Amino acid sequence: SEAEQRAFTGDLPSVSATARTIAEAHRRYRGLDDGDIADYIPVLAEADPSWFGLSLVDTGGEVHEAGDVEMTFSIQSISKAFVFALVCQARSHEFVHERIGVNNTGLPFNSVMAIELNDGSPMNSMVNAGAIATSALATGETPAEKWETIRTGLSRFAGRSLDLDGRVYRSEIETNQRNKALARLLESYGRIITDPLDSVDIYTRQCSLSVTAHDLAVMGATLADGGVNPLTRERVVAAEVARDTLALLASCGMYENSGEWLFEIGLPAKSGVSGGIVAIAPGKAAIGAFSPRLDSAGNSVRGQRACFDLARTLGMNLF
Ligand code: DON
Repeated sequence: SEAEQRAFTGDLPSVSATARTIAEAHRRYRGLDDGDIADYIPVLAEADPSWFGLSLVDTGGEVHEAGDVEMTFSIQSISKAFVFALVCQARSHEFVHERIGVNNTGLPFNSVMAIELNDGSPMNSMVNAGAIATSALATGETPAEKWETIRTGLSRFAGRSLDLDGRVYRSEIETNQRNKALARLLESYGRIITDPLDSVDIYTRQCSLSVTAHDLAVMGATLADGGVNPLTRERVVAAEVARDTLALLASCGMYENSGEWLFEIGLPAKSGVSGGIVAIAPGKAAIGAFSPRLDSAGNSVRGQRACFDLARTLGMNLF
């Protein structure tokens, strides 16, 4: 088909065809009620299941959107992708490879067993243990400085100043005994460079940053554009760092379903339990999707279906 051929040419279809495809995907899936809202973080259970936003930002800065694209929600695990990029930029490719790792665990995002089965390795920066260890590596002498590095760094990806949602942060910090346990377990193996609970606190803050589907698309488009934000034209990370981040997202971004996701959709992507997904077509564009109902791995059901359609119809699939 034309779309399949286009996947190899590097071009998106015309502006009007792209806009039409986004609107159609939104219309097709807005009534889909499969999946459940995350409730293990109490405040997330208050989400309205009807929320659904789709945004596509291309590397030329063109924006196409449908639905609730200005609705704010906590970024959750999607922060892991961009914190990884900042740490990779500040340290090095070899450093993150050796200290954290880049292989999929094949297990859920909060698995204790994944650490135990791998000699205490956090395995990769996309699961909770690896993300907590990665946040500890952010530039800064104190936890407050590391947090500021992360908040300002993610803001540069988004092209606007991002803020913490205090209600989400407090709800999560009071109920995240499991993340604290993961951090203590890493400490017992000598795999975390700061006080483990300080690092959990930074990680919980980064997960509580408030974003929109539009923000996710801009952040993803910065990776698609080799590290340059296509709206502000600011270079946020080096091109090699954008490439390393996309490689990690391809293997680990959708947790234990990363293989299925790559097989069906063919794009590096990252999801979060509040219902966000960012999917990136290198050199072309990124999709930001938001809808709170999740499948059993913690990935937005409507967001996945919409990404599937967009990847096919717009010829975004990498392969
Ligand atoms: O640490 C947690 O459990 C949450 N702050 C983030 C988890 C998450 O988003 C997993 N994503 N699907």
